[in-house]
Amino acid sequence: MADDFAAIRVRAEQHGLFETTILHGHLADAEPMTAALETVIRERQASEAGISRSNVGGWHSKTDMLDWGGAAAAKLADIAVKMAKRMSRFDGREPEWSVRMWANVSPPGALNMSHAHPGVLWAAVYYVATGEPGQGGELYLEDPRFPLPQMTWPGFRAIGADGAPQDTEHRIAPKRGDLVLFPAWMRHGVRPYLGGGERISIAMNLYVK
Ligand SMILES: [Fe+2]
Repeated sequence: MADDFAAIRVRAEQHGLFETTILHGHLADAEPMTAALETVIRERQASEAGISRSNVGGWHSKTDMLDWGGAAAAKLADIAVKMAKRMSRFDGREPEWSVRMWANVSPPGALNMSHAHPGVLWAAVYYVATGEPGQGGELYLEDPRFPLPQMTWPGFRAIGADGAPQDTEHRIAPKRGDLVLFPAWMRHGVRPYLGGGERISIAMNLYVK
């Protein structure tokens, strides 16, 4: 009887639904802007005590960098909004965009705990100094579906449309001049940096109303 079914084959195509859009860009010819940002951040760090957010160790400026970051900060915000607009569609109306910006200076051992940015549309990071390569300090973006895929079997991974088991987090090892944008609801953090020197990044919250 079983032999009657031996010829059954399944024809199926796999769909990856509900893509999570992130952008990992690199700014060309941005060295003068990046150098100006580095200078203004170092000046601010020398004159202002930082605040404490998701950072463990390191200096985190207030979120008013557009007030003291000069033309370079304004230019960076402008670029981030342009990139965010490219990844956004609204209901026919064009919203008003605004940006809050702050600087992070991270010495060896510093990290950022996993967090999200409530009330924000897109989160962005621009990298001014990334320390020694291969020494940690990567940005990680967590699979927002966690822990659903692993509820029945720890270590389970569904095979993605590319044929590979899907990662539970995506890591980015940034370079000076890199700009990363991701949805602000997406939990993310920074791995501990173990190399020498200091890392400098600029974070931005992009709002619409
Ligand atoms: Fe963040």
